[in-house]
Amino acid sequence: MNPLAESLNATLEGTVAHRLLSRTGRHLFFPKGIVAQSAEAKERAHRFNATAGMAYRHGAPMILPAAASVSAAFSPAESVAYAPTPGVAALRERWKEEMIKKNPSLASVRTSRPLVTAGLTNGIVHLAELFVDAGDPVVMPDMFWGNYRLILEHRKEARIMTFPFFSEEAGFNVEGFAAACTEAATARGKVIVLLNFPNNPTGYTPTEAEARAIVARLTALADDGTDILVIADDAYFGLFFESGLQTESIFAPLSTAHERILAAKIDGATKEDFAWGLRVGFITYASPGLDDNAINALEQKTIGSLRAVVSNTSNLSQHMLLKVMNDPAYERQKQDARDILEGRYRELKAGLERRRSSDPDSPLTVLPFNSGYFMSFDCGAVDAEALRLALLDRGIGTISIAGRYLRVAFAAVEQESIGELIDEIYDAAAGM
Ligand SMILES: Cc1ncc(COP(=O)(O)O)c(C=O)c1O
Repeated sequence: MNPLAESLNATLEGTVAHRLLSRTGRHLFFPKGIVAQSAEAKERAHRFNATAGMAYRHGAPMILPAAASVSAAFSPAESVAYAPTPGVAALRERWKEEMIKKNPSLASVRTSRPLVTAGLTNGIVHLAELFVDAGDPVVMPDMFWGNYRLILEHRKEARIMTFPFFSEEAGFNVEGFAAACTEAATARGKVIVLLNFPNNPTGYTPTEAEARAIVARLTALADDGTDILVIADDAYFGLFFESGLQTESIFAPLSTAHERILAAKIDGATKEDFAWGLRVGFITYASPGLDDNAINALEQKTIGSLRAVVSNTSNLSQHMLLKVMNDPAYERQKQDARDILEGRYRELKAGLERRRSSDPDSPLTVLPFNSGYFMSFDCGAVDAEALRLALLDRGIGTISIAGRYLRVAFAAVEQESIGELIDEIYDAAAGM
């Protein structure tokens, strides 16, 4: 093992992060080579700095005139130059500041500085590298974003362990969740949990009481001696359309819950800032079991994973996001965009209610939803894939899941078309 990895492991020794690291995670470190030598040269190479693998002219990164003209709002240092592996420092600070505004209870919590990833998917991949070994169970509700399977099962050979998403009272199934966590703890002595609220594909966010129960169950398990990694995938954060919902990330209460709980937050600009293709996401850690040195060691391991996989994330994207976030109109513009989605949500809720009462024999059941981009139908006796194809014949695109559920991205459909969309779905299902 590399001595730098050994030193990081020694710093983490005795912490929940150390116990949870995968084989790869134990070996990871951020090499000091080029970065350290470049930093040294910045101080001392007053004649020629021939360290970094970038071309310079007149003291600035070289840029093709065509590139300069299409990125005129950015200097070459903000556009074509490499970004630092952990991300642009000012953006990391700004994202953290915003994270605290969105989750006020984090104000007094020690968290890592957010590390920039190439989108949220990439963040999940890094966490899987660091913490998931072949055969590890990863607990999540039975309705989840399909890419988790590709990342965790097909790539890392983990075992996704699910429980039914909804309780009989049509809320989050806390009992099922706790039972799955206990089963994973028994099988492996540790638990990895992946929670995504607002959820894809259901559009469900737990109520405050449900969130408290989730945290309480995990804390009880930790009290019994189980180490727990909770990954909060907050892709759709902020799109809450009902009152009484848990409007802080579940990361926030978990960040102080227990020394045996390591909370990892995955978030980013993708959905929240309506910037899907910029590919800017973030990983943030917190645990009462980690002091500043341990947080730093965990960051170094994560930066090592970033260096090995993407080296660094698009500098232009990061600077674009930073400028957007620093625009005085940022908050208002975001609220305007959220209001548009909320209008679609309200239209959908009202339309579904209308259709449910006028069409009581429909095979479709609307699953609970209160947030995010999506809602799903349980198609009952109707094959969801067949329904999807029938809708395609009508010129309507939806997603079928596991032959049983039909996911509708209401965020993608204009408010004035929502009623027609609902009618088409119910009519197609009735004709099957
Ligand atoms: C729950 C969830 N997490 C993560 C992502 C991916 O985000 P990104 O495009 O930034 O990789 C998605 C995208 O659909 C998602 O639904």
